[in-house]
Formats: sequence, C-alpha cells, structure tokens
Amino acid sequence: MADITTSQHGQWSSRFAFILAATGSAVGLGNIWKFPYIVGQNGGGAFVIVYLLCVIGIGIPIMMAETLLGRRGRHSPINTMEILTTEAKADPNWHYLGWMGVVAGFLILSYYSVIAGWALAYTGKAFFGSFFGENPAGIASIYDNFIASPWQQVFWHTIFMTATMAIVVRGVESGLEKSARFFVPILFVLLVLLVGYAMTKETYYFQGLHFLFSPDFSKLSGDSVLVAMGQAFFSLGLGMGAIMMYGAYLPKDISIAKTSIIIAAADTVVALLAGIAIFPIVFANGLTPADGPGLIFKTLPIAFGNMTGGWIVGILFFVLLFFAALTSAVSLIEPAVTWLIEARKVDRYTACLWSGLLTWALGVAVALSFNVWSGFKLFNQNLFGLVDYVTSNLMLPIGGFCIAVFVGWIMKQEDSESELALSQPHFYKMWKFSVCYIAPAAVFLVFLHVVGVL
Ligand code: PHE
Repeated sequence: MADITTSQHGQWSSRFAFILAATGSAVGLGNIWKFPYIVGQNGGGAFVIVYLLCVIGIGIPIMMAETLLGRRGRHSPINTMEILTTEAKADPNWHYLGWMGVVAGFLILSYYSVIAGWALAYTGKAFFGSFFGENPAGIASIYDNFIASPWQQVFWHTIFMTATMAIVVRGVESGLEKSARFFVPILFVLLVLLVGYAMTKETYYFQGLHFLFSPDFSKLSGDSVLVAMGQAFFSLGLGMGAIMMYGAYLPKDISIAKTSIIIAAADTVVALLAGIAIFPIVFANGLTPADGPGLIFKTLPIAFGNMTGGWIVGILFFVLLFFAALTSAVSLIEPAVTWLIEARKVDRYTACLWSGLLTWALGVAVALSFNVWSGFKLFNQNLFGLVDYVTSNLMLPIGGFCIAVFVGWIMKQEDSESELALSQPHFYKMWKFSVCYIAPAAVFLVFLHVVGVL
C-alpha cells in the first residue's frame, strides 16, 4: 500500500499549502471562542501551562500519527483505515475508526455551523452599530432576542453552510488550498491588529498578560487538567479524521514531524493571541473572565459598543471568527465528501450536495434547539448541548485513543518508521513511546473523567 503516491482527490501543491490548510483546520472557534473562556473558568496561567504540556506531549505525537495514517492510506478516513487494516493484517473492525470520524465531523459541523452563523450575524450587528452605547443588560437582550428567533438562527446557519460547501466543492487545490492561502494570513493580521488595540489599554493589557501567563497552581483542580487535554484535541482538530484527510493530500517527500510541530505551534499562538487580545478588553470593562461560553457574544459587544474605535474593532473581531470557523468547517466535512465520491462513485458536486444537505438539516434542528425546540431535552441537555457533549467529550478522545493504539501497536514498525522518516532514531523512539503509552493513557484518563469514574 505504501506504493500509493497520490490521492485520487488531489494533492497539496506545496509544503506551505499543507501547513496553511491544516492550520486553517486547527484554528477555529475552539481557539478564539472556547480557549479564552475555559482559561477564564480555570484560573488562567496554570491552566495555560497544562494546556501547552498536553499539546506538546499528546497533541503533536497524535497529530503525527493521524497524518501518517492519512498519507499512507491516501483515501477518505473510512477507506484509509480499511486499506491500512488489510496491510497490517489486523482485525477488520478497525475501519469503524474511519466511520466514527466521518460521523463525528458531520455532527460537529452541524453545531459548529450554527455558532459560526452567530459570528456572521454579529458581524452585521457590529457593522450597523447595534452595540453603540449599550449596557450589559442591553447587550444581553440583543443576544437573547437573536437566540430566540428561529428564522435568524436558520438563516445564518444556512449562509455559513453554503459558504462552506462552495469552498469544498472546488476540491483540494482550488477550494481548500486557495481558501486557506487567503484566509489564514488575514486571520493572523486581524489578530495582531486586535492585540495592538489591546496594548493601548496599558494597565489592563498587563493585567491580561498577568492573568494568562503567571501561573497560580492553587487555582488548578484535577478537573482543569482534564479539560485542558480535551481542549488540546478539539483545538488541534484531532481524533476525527480531518487531519488524516489532509494527510492524504500530502506529497511523499514532506516531513510529517516538522509540519505537525509548525501546525501545533501556529494553533497555540493563535489561541494565546486571542487570549492576549480578549482579556484586556474584558478587564478594562469590568467583565468577568469566567463568564463561560457566552464570553464573546454576551460580553465583548459591551466593550465594542463603548470604546473608541469599537465599531471597526467589533467588525474585525467577528469577521475573524467567521474566517477561522470557515477554514475549520471545510476540514470537518471533507472526509464525508471523499467517502461519498469513493464509495458511491458520485462526482464532487453531488457528494457535496448530499453531505452538505444532511449537515444543514441536522444543523437546523440544532439551531431550533435554542428556541422552539428548547423544551426537547435528553440527559438534561438540548440538542446543541448533546451533540457538543457526545462529539467533544466522547468521540474525539476515543478517536485519538484508537489512532494512537493503531499506529503504536497494530501498524508495523517499519511502516510508521518509513512514513515518518525521522533524521534521528531517538526521535522515532520518543514518538513511539508517546503513541504507545503516554497518549493512550492520558486519553483514557479523559474518558474516565467524562463517564464520571474519575
Ligand atoms: N480545531 C477546530 C477549532 O478549534 C475544530 C475542529 C475539530 C476542526 C475537529 C477539525 C476537527 O475550532
């Protein structure tokens, strides 16, 4: 199987293209929306240190493992796992790992698109000056009215899904690669601009830095450690086949280790920049860092509506969130699209249409779970909470665990060794130790935590 040198779906034109696309997949709502609020909820600096350790010790090795699986299989995650299982003469049930990834991507995208739709809607609100002079109660009622409107929820979700599919339908080079080439640099520029704005807040800027970077380990619970690890999975986009898919488009001669380190570093820098940009605004306006998932939508507009230059900063912020979500969304659906092309022998357009429609339909249900269907609850969660819970807390960790176990224990050593082609044997040994022992054990702990044993 190692002789498959390209994927039928296309190939990245260069190492840089792959890095941009994979960074686009990793950097998303997880970095800009979620990272700051969970740092806020978990006490700041100490949590950040644990998060960084998770990225380095577990995230990078699993990212390398997932990418190498993709490049060796060169197909959608489902067929890649089938091919590699045959190659390793392993139990055919391993290909369900590919299935779980495709289903997880589809489920994540259904709610991801709804939240990304909020970013779009809020770009419009920022543009039309809806936040001007509003106090916290006014901003909260803007948010509540928005959430309560089924039509608005469905409308913005539809726009976001359409934008996503319009990119995916163009394929690897002219869709995924071009969009990443365009959006990822814009994203960095916008973030740096926002950090520049935060710096003008002087004392609050330093207060923000202090909150993010001076660790107070007394604020760190065992729980926070596990939350940090779960976030590393979600933020790096591991465990569901997205990076496996992108690995399938990776030319043979490109180093998986180096690119994984660059992508993980870029993802981490963006999350930290988001924190550096957001916390000074939070502190300068007397808001609380531990405000939870609503931190961005319920509180930042207060800042945007009341500060000089708030109009343009507000627009920039939500545009940034939208772009970040878009380049992640395309990676969430690509595994399903390629599988449809391979298994159903349809063209890309038809595959996009069906997978897009299916995701859209589930997304409509998620959008309505905030309002007309909010009474429908399972395990005390509405549909949004349920899908988020099942994917982030169960499917991604299980996927990451299985990937580490497959590559570490099932795949032949010479295959993973030749795929990684590391310059030093001790680098390979370190990586192997992590995928065989550290990463699976760590994920197992997250899992025990999620099911409430720990
Ligand atoms: N990493 C993305 C984010 O941080 C989300 C994502 C998860 C993308 C899983 C791909 C796979 O928003």
